[in-house]
Amino acid sequence: MLSRALEGFMSRKGLYGAFWIIGIFMVTVLIYFTANLAKEVPPLPQIVKSQSGELLYTYDDIVKGKGDFQQFGLMDYGSMLGMGAYLGPDFTTEFMHKRAEFLYDFFGVKHYGKPSAELSAAERGAVKELTKADFNAVVMSEEQIVYSDASALAYKANRDYLIKFLVEGDHERAWRGGVIKPEEASRIAAFVDWSQMVASSKRPGTDRTWSNNWPKEPMIDQDVTWASHNITLWEWLLLWPATILVIYLAYEYLIKENDDSKEKLEEPLKITSIFPSQEKLLKYVPIVALFSLLQLILGGYLAHIYADPTDHFLISQDILPFNVVRQLHLNLAIVWVAVGWLVGGLLIAPIVAGKDLRFPRLVDVLWVALLIVGGGGLIGIYLGSMGYLRETWFWFGSEGREFLELGRVWDIGLLVGLVFWFGMVYSTIRKAKNDVLVGTII
Ligand code: HEM
Repeated sequence: MLSRALEGFMSRKGLYGAFWIIGIFMVTVLIYFTANLAKEVPPLPQIVKSQSGELLYTYDDIVKGKGDFQQFGLMDYGSMLGMGAYLGPDFTTEFMHKRAEFLYDFFGVKHYGKPSAELSAAERGAVKELTKADFNAVVMSEEQIVYSDASALAYKANRDYLIKFLVEGDHERAWRGGVIKPEEASRIAAFVDWSQMVASSKRPGTDRTWSNNWPKEPMIDQDVTWASHNITLWEWLLLWPATILVIYLAYEYLIKENDDSKEKLEEPLKITSIFPSQEKLLKYVPIVALFSLLQLILGGYLAHIYADPTDHFLISQDILPFNVVRQLHLNLAIVWVAVGWLVGGLLIAPIVAGKDLRFPRLVDVLWVALLIVGGGGLIGIYLGSMGYLRETWFWFGSEGREFLELGRVWDIGLLVGLVFWFGMVYSTIRKAKNDVLVGTII
């Protein structure tokens, strides 16, 4: 009975059934967790103030600071809550660590009359507990967040440090300065400080922070929880055996069967003549080649700055700062890979259909559109991050989300181009559904 059930499952029908059931289950789980994510979002307070009533920053500062953080491409220099580039600091960790250091010194001086470096081990232990208590006293809420006066002072020291760093720059750390204004840097400090609270204050009713103790701060005995390690470990351990199992089953029960039935592989595709629309595709090739070459050169430039952040590589870092070049590096890849795919589709569609596109000129139109979107997007990233598009950065400059830097207008342009392309390909192959060539190529 069991062997019959197993046999049924291992049939082509059974495996396809399993594929759909598992697929639907996984997507349902994904939707469930995504829907629940809304509950996990840390609150944005209306105000953050000190215990003695001093206003430190507001909701607007945090939100505008986030915008400034994006506008100037800071995520392509350092990271936020662990996500971003690795040349600069993790801004969240830096603020949290500096706050802890500040509090160690503050309590050291207050209780023992000396800074943390001069404390004995026992005194340092006591100071650590006071610091932990100070961190744990912060409760994030949508109304207001109250810092102890000590943490308020720590915030102000952090803010002053970040304003100086962002505005004046630090050549040793490959941050050139000279673009961000002090008031913008001050708002960025509010946003970074909020992220620091996300990483350091506990979710009500739990013993973990809003970011599940990531990034961790050993000075306040904070570490990633066992559950995070456990889940990651099992995901990692199961991924490979499960992948191997799927490949094995697919080969044994789906592909090999074809071998047994002596089904011959089709002849490889040979292109002996080309349609007018395909000829027009030739002009895409230099664009793809140019963009990918440029990407590789810029990758080399980035690697060079990693190796020696103080040096210049052919062009001054003042003209080509690391964060701007990293954005161009990522987005050039997105553009040339996307254009390459489009060319592939447009090359194959007429072969599948056995006839050319209805309007071959559209290939030229798409080429011009892609050139405008790709070129405009890349120029926008440069101008936006360099501070030349302060009013319109989101639409035309750099959106500032790692991997999604192209300004919104260029994003929409790319999407329209893709839909346009889909229409061109689909309208060409639609009628070829029963054509024998479809079987040859797909
Ligand atoms: C000469 C070849 C290349 C060099 C030297 C190079 C160098 C670099 C460097 C230094 C970074 C910054 C790492 C960081 O701070 O996060 C980077 C990031 C990246 N590069 Fe390249 N790259 C090269 C080619 C490519 C190619 C061909 C692609 C894709 C088509 C690519 C895609 C990426 C991506 C996606 C990132 C972001 C990685 C992340 O943040 O996780 N790179 N590259």
